[in-house]
Formats: sequence, structure tokens, C-alpha cells
Amino acid sequence: MAQRISFDFRNAKIKASDADIEAMKPRVVAAKETLLGRTGEGNAFLGWIDLPVNYDKEEFARIKAAAAKIQSDSDVLLVIGIGGSYLGARAAIEALRHSFYNAVDRSVRKTPEIYFCGNNLSSTYVKHLIQVIGDRDFSINVISKSGTTTECSVAFRLFKEIMEKKYGKEEAAKRIYATTDKEKGALKTLSNEEGYESFIVPDDIGGRYSVLTAVGLLPIAVSGADIDKLMQGAQNARQYCIENDIENNDVMMYAVVRNVLRENGLGMEILANYEPALHYVSEWWKQLYGESEGKEDKGIFPTAVDFTTDLHSLGQFIQQGTKNHFETVINVLNPREEVIIGTEPVDLDGLNYLSGKTLDFINKCAMNGTILAHVDGGVPNIRIDMDTIDELSLGELFYKFEFACGMSGYVLGINPFNQPGVESYKKNMFALLGKPGYEEKTAELLARLEQ
Ligand code: PA5
Repeated sequence: MAQRISFDFRNAKIKASDADIEAMKPRVVAAKETLLGRTGEGNAFLGWIDLPVNYDKEEFARIKAAAAKIQSDSDVLLVIGIGGSYLGARAAIEALRHSFYNAVDRSVRKTPEIYFCGNNLSSTYVKHLIQVIGDRDFSINVISKSGTTTECSVAFRLFKEIMEKKYGKEEAAKRIYATTDKEKGALKTLSNEEGYESFIVPDDIGGRYSVLTAVGLLPIAVSGADIDKLMQGAQNARQYCIENDIENNDVMMYAVVRNVLRENGLGMEILANYEPALHYVSEWWKQLYGESEGKEDKGIFPTAVDFTTDLHSLGQFIQQGTKNHFETVINVLNPREEVIIGTEPVDLDGLNYLSGKTLDFINKCAMNGTILAHVDGGVPNIRIDMDTIDELSLGELFYKFEFACGMSGYVLGINPFNQPGVESYKKNMFALLGKPGYEEKTAELLARLEQ
């Protein structure tokens, strides 16, 4: 099966010797065996491995039907969720659809505007979003595996009230779609009580690995992107990742090289793109790797830049600042749209040497020049070539990042499928909010804050 995503590690060799790479390979081979043999920590959360070939077809058809209904009866879809219940859908919609999706005329977009909330606790954001929706018809997709996440629950309470005032309880219930656990959690209880159409987050798939479940698929389908092709891309990647041995598997080699660089003192990976449409793919990737690897005082800190924009902010630091990072660049080979530079009769801006060239040619020259400059500055570079930004490529990219992340986590010796550290802020927040059961903690925290 031809692959649309491939990796180039040649510019990583400045800090990853052949000997280091050879030494790391058996550890990644072992990690892959642990993953596929389901013998490692967190093995109750490996449903994402076979998901592209083993998904609920009946639910998939319901997702498409719900998306068609939302497209026909709503000007706006509100997607309420946070973390893994948010980033995948946003990444896919922003990558695959119009760069100005919500702003472009509906005759171009053809599908409802889509806004995300429940991913922060800002009253200003909520008030402004209410203004944007105005009197228009809207639907809600509330997404929470646990069904109890504060950001999401609070936003849902606010917008449910607005919706019920506008449509009445019965009609509102027909416009609310809940994606949650099949039986547990407050959101499930509420859905059963109110009769919302429900979609399931499978027990064996954690939030940050759930983009190809209903969590991501319903909003993505509403946006008009082709979810069949997205799944097909992931299927292609799954076959590649599973069937190819390490000598023919650059997903395994990605796990090898990033772990060699980490062990050689580079504790930060910067994911760089040259297409603004990939900004939220980077946000999704940051969560995937950050929550999977960052524990037990270990892990590579995942961060991201949008180039060339950030060459005029963080570029200086990457080139000459503290050397604790390496860079992974997503290189989109074929842009979805092309722009050609014209000729001016009088060359006042000095750009006639670019006449007839494409804007993407200039972008690629900036990219290649930057890669070489950063390598010269001592920053190793991994390049990911992506054929183009479409559903097949993106499905493949999602799956390949997930597979490499699972292997990398096992090489690191941690459980890549839990996130115990996320609970710490929640406990403090509940205590400060005065949630019943947190009284002792409340007193302790208030005393500390008053010091
Ligand atoms: O990856 C994860 O598991 C987390 O980021 C969750 O997705 C996030 O905390 C939201 O949780 P929930 O879906 O339970 O509301």
C-alpha cells in the first residue's frame, strides 16, 4: 500500500550517530512487541490499534446521518469538549476544510459554522460565543468520555439552557448529540434522561487516541470532510506500522531517532509546520505526546511552531538559544491551492526575480533554508513528508503519530495510556470551588494562598 507520509532522518544524524541508532533499534522492536502483544502497562487502552479496521459500522452510519441532520437544520454546530475530546476534531476540520472556515460565505463552505467551547473557563469567550450564535439555529455535540469534566460540563449547562429557552426542552433534545461512555458518568445519565442521541467513546480508547471514534468523527463529518477516507488513511497506516519490520518502517524509526536524541540530552521536540492549516494538528500532537510521555520525571517536552510566522519570534531562540531541542518538520509536498507571483513593469519592490514562481516555491525555499540553518546551528531535524493535506494523508498521519507514541512511551519505561498528573489541578480547583468532600483541602489551600 503506497504511503502518503514518510520520514527523513538524515539531518538528525548530527546528534544521533549510526551506533546510537543501531543500539536503540532493539528497544523499539521490543516496544512494538509489547504494544501489539498487549503485554505492557495501560494495555486496557489499546483499542485504537485496530480501530481503523474494527470500528462499529452501525454507529459510523449513525454519525453520518446525524451529521446530515445537523447540516440541514443548523447554521452553527457547537462542539463542547476539552483535551482528547476536542483537539482531534479541531485539528482535522482546520486542516481539511477552508482556512477561513467560519468566515467564508456559506455558498463556499456549504456546511454549518463550527465553534468549540468547553475547552476553557473564560466567561468572555462564552459571552462572545453567545453573540456569534445570535438568533441562528444551532446544534450541540457535547463530548466527554468521563462525562464529568468541569470545563465541558459547565459549558454544556450554559448552552443547554440557552438552547432550551430557544427551542423548548423537547426540540432542544433533538439538537443535542452526546458522545460519552456507554454507561457511566453524569453526561450519560443526562442523555438517558433527556433522550439525546448518543455516541460511544469505547472503554479501551483514551481521549488523546480517540480522534477516529465518534469523538472526532461527528464534528469532522458535519464540516463536510470525508470520514470514510480518513478511516482509509488510518487503515493504510495501521497495515504499514504493523506489518513492516524496523528496516522498512519509518514510524518505528521515528521512535528510534527521537529516543536517541532524548538520551543524547535533547529533551524538547519542536513540531514545525509551514501550513497554517496544520496549527491544530500540532496542538493535537502536543497533547498526544505530552500526556502520554510526560510522567515519572521523564519524557520529551512537545512544543510546536508555525513557520514562517514563528521564524520572526522563536526562530532566534531555536537557532542560537539553549541547545536542548530538536525539530520535526511537516513538509506538505503539494499545497491544496496555488498562487503565482506576477511581474511588475517597474521592479520597485525588487521581487521580479520571483515572477512566474509559485508562492509554495518560496515557502519551500524558506523551509529548506531554515532546516539547513538550524542544522548548522546544531539543531537536529527530522522531516515528515506529507503528500498533501487531505483525508487519506491526515488519517495516516494521525495513526502513525499514535503508533510511534505508544512505542516511544514503552521505550521510556512509562505507561503511555494514563494521565495521573492531570488530576492534581482538578483536586485543587474543586477544593477552592468548595465542592463537597474537599473541605480539608480547601482550608489548606486558602491558607497557602493568603500567605
Ligand atoms: O487524553 C485524555 O484522556 C484527556 O485529555 C481527556 O480527553 C480530557 O481530559 C477530557 O476528558 P473527558 O473526555 O473525560 O471529558
